[in-house]
Amino acid sequence: MTRIIIDCDPGHDDMMAIMLASASDKIDLLGVTTVAGNQTGDKTFENALRILTLIKEEIPVARGADKPLLRELVTAPEFHGQSGLDGAELPEPGIKPLHIDAVDFIIDMLEESLEKIVLVPTGPLTNIAMVLLKNPDIKHKIERIVLMGGGMHDSNVTPAAEFNIYVDPEAAKIVFGSGVPITMVGLDVTNRALMSFEEIEGIVADNGVISSKVGPLLKFFANANKKIFGLNGAPIHDALAVAAVIDPTVVETKFLNVQVEVSSELTRGATVVDIYGATSNSPNVDVALEVDTPKFVHFMVDSIRKLDKKFA
Ligand code: RIB
Ligand code: CA
Repeated sequence: MTRIIIDCDPGHDDMMAIMLASASDKIDLLGVTTVAGNQTGDKTFENALRILTLIKEEIPVARGADKPLLRELVTAPEFHGQSGLDGAELPEPGIKPLHIDAVDFIIDMLEESLEKIVLVPTGPLTNIAMVLLKNPDIKHKIERIVLMGGGMHDSNVTPAAEFNIYVDPEAAKIVFGSGVPITMVGLDVTNRALMSFEEIEGIVADNGVISSKVGPLLKFFANANKKIFGLNGAPIHDALAVAAVIDPTVVETKFLNVQVEVSSELTRGATVVDIYGATSNSPNVDVALEVDTPKFVHFMVDSIRKLDKKFA
């Protein structure tokens, strides 16, 4: 089993990432940490507790940064609603979170673990950058950072940038420049990790303990993406990062140089991917360029049905 920590800003697709990890017998989910992003730190933290309560995952949860390293927080209510998880009522938090900060939790887990750990950030990279700043030597305990973020050609929050990188570009610059092995699961593939309206209706029709919540939540997220981007469904961005840990063949990657723009306001947060080796910069990131969408959607549907069965 691959031992992972998910650092997230739930967020509909963050929820799917957590569920995919929980349902997989190839993943040992050591903990969940939260960061402000899709919504405020209060809301993403509460949403993580509600999700883990729903799937009865009694694992460590630690709260992280309420704002980026240097900049003001930008949230995404247009995609995730005022709660950060609009579309269905999730249970009141029933698990007790840790009383240490996410950064200290991640550092402690890495220090105490005999084996390396894979970090799966699916929100702004503030917490991960803080881990590397606070304890630079800890990076030799990180097996790989498999992050949802960035994009070579695709963007969403501005014409140049993807939301997670845009919100905290300085944090992303630190992470991308850390020397830790990184897989970037960006919009070029996650916009194609799409659950169609028909596939979502199938989840709604299952009407199980988990699918009766997940279905309406995915419908909300799909409607928001249709309204804003004209997509025919919900791009489950964050879950593709977890899927790439479970089965790396779900994406095709290329080892390329990636730099993060932090100076220009016009292109703030752009992930500049040197696809043709035009610069003298050495490759530093495995960039996901292709995705096996049918395999990914099968992962998602199979996971939700496994969780339904577990709680039937
Ligand atoms: O750009 C998509 C990313 O931003 C996803 O992680 C989504 O949850 C938001 O955090
Ligand atoms: Ca996210």
